[in-house]
Amino acid sequence: MNNVLYRSRISGTGSYLPEGLITNKYLETLVDTSDEWVRDRTGIKHRHKVKDGQVTSDLAYEAAIIALKEANISANELDMILFATVSPDQIMPNTACVLQSKLKAGDCMALDVSAACSGFVYALAIADQFIKTGPLKNILVVGAEVLTPYVNYKDRDTCILFGDGAGAAVVTRARPDDESTIYSHHLHADGEISDLFVLPAGGSKMPFSQEVLDKELQYVKMKGREIFKHAVRTMSKCCKEALDYNQMSADKVDWVIPHQANVRIIQAVADHFGISMDKVVVEIEEMGNTSAATVIVAMDKAIKDGRIKRGQNILLTAFGAGITSGSLLMKY
Ligand code: UT7
Repeated sequence: MNNVLYRSRISGTGSYLPEGLITNKYLETLVDTSDEWVRDRTGIKHRHKVKDGQVTSDLAYEAAIIALKEANISANELDMILFATVSPDQIMPNTACVLQSKLKAGDCMALDVSAACSGFVYALAIADQFIKTGPLKNILVVGAEVLTPYVNYKDRDTCILFGDGAGAAVVTRARPDDESTIYSHHLHADGEISDLFVLPAGGSKMPFSQEVLDKELQYVKMKGREIFKHAVRTMSKCCKEALDYNQMSADKVDWVIPHQANVRIIQAVADHFGISMDKVVVEIEEMGNTSAATVIVAMDKAIKDGRIKRGQNILLTAFGAGITSGSLLMKY
C-alpha cells in the first residue's frame, strides 16, 4: 500500500460493564418468553444495565482508564479519540469530546463513529490508517453503548438481546522491532437493506413528538430472522476476505472475535469459516448484544483472562445496522 510510513499495534485494552443486570427471569415478567428459550436461541443469560444518571461516556471513561494504564501512556499523550456508538450522551456535542474532557486529554482530534455494531471495527481501521500515514502516534478507540433506553421492554424480539457496556483500545505507532501489528482491514456497507434494523425517531426524519411516544417509535425495530441470515453470510465473507488478502490459512488464526449478537450466529460463522468454536471468543452469555462494544469487550476479557496472548493472530469481524460489516486482522 502506498503512503504507509508506519505500522500500528494495540498497546492496551480495557472494558467496563455496569453493575445492573437484566436477567432472563426478569424478562419473563415483562414479555411472553422463557429463560430456556432465550438461552437456547441466543446464548444470553443476562445483560448489563446502567444505573440512573450513568451515561455512555461514563462507561467509556472506565474502560479507557484501564486501556491507557495498560498502554502506559497518559490521556494527554492521545492524538485522537474515536468513539464508536449509536447511543451517544447527546446528539451534540459528540461523545468523543465529552470523553476527552472527562479524561483531561487536552487538545486532540475527537470524533464519533456511527456504524452500529460494526462501529469498533470501523473505528479501529480508521485509527490504523491515521497511524500508518503519520503523524499521529496514540489513538484511543472506544466502543460504548447505553442501549437500554432504546429498547421496548414490551417487544420480545429485541428486549432479550441488548445491553449496556464499553470497551476501549489504545492504538499506538509500532516500533520497527515490534512483532505486534495490524495487518489489514476490510470494511463494507449495504444501505439497500438498511430497513432491517432501525431506530425510527429522534433524527431529522422524525423529530420527537407526542405521536412518536404514542406509537413507540423511540425504540429500535428489527427484522431479526433476516438480520440473522445476513450476519452469518457477511461475517463469514469478511473473514475469508481478510485471510485471502493476507494469504493466510484459517489454521494460522489463533482467535476469531466476532460481533456478539447471538451465539447461533457465531456458531454458524465459525462453521462457514471452517474454524473450531474453541478458537472463537464468546462472551455473549454474560453481556448480551452491546452493539459497538461487543468486539472490544470480548477481546479485552480474553486478554485479561489469558486466552489471548501477545504474538497470536486475531481476526475481528462485525456486522450491524446500516447494514455495515467488516473484518480486521492483527498480530496482537
Ligand atoms: O447486532 C445486530 C442486530 N441484531 C441481531 O443480530 C439479531 C439477529 N437475530 C436473532 O438473533 C434472532 O433472529 C432472534 C433472537 C431475534 C429470534 O430468534 P429466531 O430463532 O430467529 O426466532 P424466530 O424469529 O424464527 O421465531 C421462532 C419462534 C416464533 O414462534 P412460532 O412462529 O414458531 O410459533 C416466534 O414467535 O420463536 C418465537 N419467539 C419467541 N419465543 C419466546 C420469538 N421471540 C421469542 C422470545 N421468546 N423472545
